[in-house]
Amino acid sequence: MDVQFDPRQIELMKRVEAARGHLFYFIPLKSVGPISFIDVDELKKENMFTDAECESFRDTPIYMFGSNNYLGLTEHPEVMAAAIAAIDLNGTGCTGSRFLNGTLGEHRRLERKLAAAIGKEEARLLPTGYQSNLILGALATSQEDIIILDYLDHASIKDGARLSTFGLDKGFMYRHNDMASLEEKLKLARAKNPRNIFVVFDGVFSMEGDLANLPEIVALAEKYHAVTVDDEAHAMGVFGKTGMGVAQHYGLTDRVDIITGTFSKSWACIGGFVAANSQIINYLTWHTSPFMFSASSPPSIIATVDKCLDITVSEEGARLRKQLFDNAHHLRGGLKDMGYNTGDSDSPIVPVIIGNPDMTVVLGEMMLKRYHVFTNVVPEKAVPKGMEMLRASVMATHKPADIDDVLKSFYKAGVQLNLISA
Ligand SMILES: Cc1ncc(COP(=O)(O)O)c(C=O)c1O
Repeated sequence: MDVQFDPRQIELMKRVEAARGHLFYFIPLKSVGPISFIDVDELKKENMFTDAECESFRDTPIYMFGSNNYLGLTEHPEVMAAAIAAIDLNGTGCTGSRFLNGTLGEHRRLERKLAAAIGKEEARLLPTGYQSNLILGALATSQEDIIILDYLDHASIKDGARLSTFGLDKGFMYRHNDMASLEEKLKLARAKNPRNIFVVFDGVFSMEGDLANLPEIVALAEKYHAVTVDDEAHAMGVFGKTGMGVAQHYGLTDRVDIITGTFSKSWACIGGFVAANSQIINYLTWHTSPFMFSASSPPSIIATVDKCLDITVSEEGARLRKQLFDNAHHLRGGLKDMGYNTGDSDSPIVPVIIGNPDMTVVLGEMMLKRYHVFTNVVPEKAVPKGMEMLRASVMATHKPADIDDVLKSFYKAGVQLNLISA
């Protein structure tokens, strides 16, 4: 039986598919280490590039500046050894929900260790970071609950709101990091005499690389008696004295009510968590269907996260963070000096804002095909119109010489395309 698809979605899909060779969706890579390679035989089957273009990538090192592997731990020998040892000990998977056969001692140990490291009473692991933000569906279960979001919040937060009784209401979205706009929404919400108000935001915004204005968000939330939910996906491992995120960075962990996060970035694998006081975690455990009805993370993942956490809080973690920020300053400073716009980024995410959809694609294409630098081409829809960008990101394991090379390439491409002056 044929499925009757939505014609508007088919049209959109066709346009995106036609642009795939420019947006570089689904490029088959061999790793996300600082130097990567493209799997040329698979690339050829994708019909994105000509055969000659594909062949030009064969055995050619690619500078990986488009990953979230901030600490470079995907290739850390101790992390890889921990994952392999866990398979030897516990097998490859749990084959069920945490409620049934999916809880290993390792899950519980990691939950306790993570909660203690973050500085919250309890933590609950979820299979993905995406699912961690779906807790919003379990929190706002009445018409009397209101969810306030930053306009640029991650899609998983917006989907979490969609799962709630309140839903996703644009009338309750505040302008990005604009505290006057947030206060306006809080006043509006308070006037409705709600049961709960939730203010939900990315700790570090995933495309723009800027930080949530946590001190003011927390102060406003307290003024209007709202619950704060802070998604630290891009901040874990990166910000704070021991790498426990933006809340730790600002010394506000106690005053942020709920912290969510992911293991798919600094912590080198996949999975997510929610951390809060015991009462909240207990409630969420029994009411979050994306937790209840999804299988638990396999032993290799738990062991990977456990080892990444050990490294993050250690002296090695502190050294990696220092190198990460040195690398970020190096890349961002170099780009700014050339005349590129890197927005308000203050993290390892360095947007190169072009603000023109066609030129963004052309620059991305030139950087990959001619200069072998992989970045993420971010078109409109993923960011507001006028913010089209290449999203570049650094790792602690990039060498300063790699960054110099990449900067030279950005310079040559920018001058050739008239994006910057010589
Ligand atoms: C801010 C933010 N939150 C949540 C997620 C979802 O995490 P995951 O990909 O680990 O499911 C992402 C992933 O891109 C993200 O950028």
